[in-house]
Amino acid sequence: MDKLAGTFRDPDVPRFRWTQFEAQAQEDDGGEDVIAGLSATPKTLPARYFYDDRGSILFERITRLPEYYLTRTELSLLENRAREVAAVTGPCELLELGSGSARKTRALIDAYDNKDLPLRYLPVDVSAGILKDSSRGLIDAYPALDVWALVGTYEQALAELPPRELDNRMAVFLGSTLGNLNSSEIAGFLENVHQALPGGSYFLVGLDLQKPVDILEAAYNDSEGVTAAFNLNMLAHLNERFEGDFDLTKFEHLAFYNPEEQQIEMHLRSRADHEVRLGALDLQVPFAEDETMRTEISRKFNLPDIIETFARHGFAATQHWTDPNDWFALILFRSA
Ligand code: TRP
Repeated sequence: MDKLAGTFRDPDVPRFRWTQFEAQAQEDDGGEDVIAGLSATPKTLPARYFYDDRGSILFERITRLPEYYLTRTELSLLENRAREVAAVTGPCELLELGSGSARKTRALIDAYDNKDLPLRYLPVDVSAGILKDSSRGLIDAYPALDVWALVGTYEQALAELPPRELDNRMAVFLGSTLGNLNSSEIAGFLENVHQALPGGSYFLVGLDLQKPVDILEAAYNDSEGVTAAFNLNMLAHLNERFEGDFDLTKFEHLAFYNPEEQQIEMHLRSRADHEVRLGALDLQVPFAEDETMRTEISRKFNLPDIIETFARHGFAATQHWTDPNDWFALILFRSA
């Protein structure tokens, strides 16, 4: 896909269209967020820099780790409950926010396909490559499926959704990605989604729940070290992107549960007093031995509390399902 903004259709694949939104503004591409994070006390780094090519491969491996219960638990919830979801919503378009590899989406699409409901899938992702590959796979697998991919941020896509063609629409936000937002980001996000959906639309959300700390911490400290490699890879990505000289052997992965904030926090801890330079940002950053910088949060939800949060933003929970351990929840909301 090219970088041109606009809507495109490949004549050879008539059931596939995509809209490419404008490249992000200067402030997002020029490393301003990196400068701000590394200049703050305590330091932080923006989680979006996890995802270069190697980071995406490592993340995919995380989702298959034995300790990382989230993906398989959510997948089995979807496989078991998608038919009930489809029965509630009837014919509707699926608007998936952050579609990734669409492994879990297939469980959902299957349920609509089996009911012979018309199918329209609108995946949103910043990665054109991932969207194109997963869309092609879906088009081939489902002869009745129309796909309109939206290449851009959630904000961009939600602000300019294609016109609705089926009776209803369901936004889908899986993987407990909501938990990677802080509380003001959650509020802004829910506001955006609510504004983009007319009353009566559905919103299907997968959320990781509170549970014993040893289970939570093991999920982000796997024995093979994949999560550690994923976390450290952000520094390699920053080196590449901003002419940096982060020495990956001078940092270590740290992930722990913060009970006050009810979140897993991922940090990188400096093993020594040293300085790092990011040439392209004209930035020199001092690190103290044992100083940590936060790279990610992963909030762990309490079901009644988060249902209440959604209610304040105009989403009423119509149904929810959890796995037998009550580790993960799938919640179907309806927009007021
Ligand atoms: N949302 C998932 C989670 O919080 C996936 C995820 C996002 C993740 N960022 C991560 C997993 C960083 C491991 C490390 O778990």
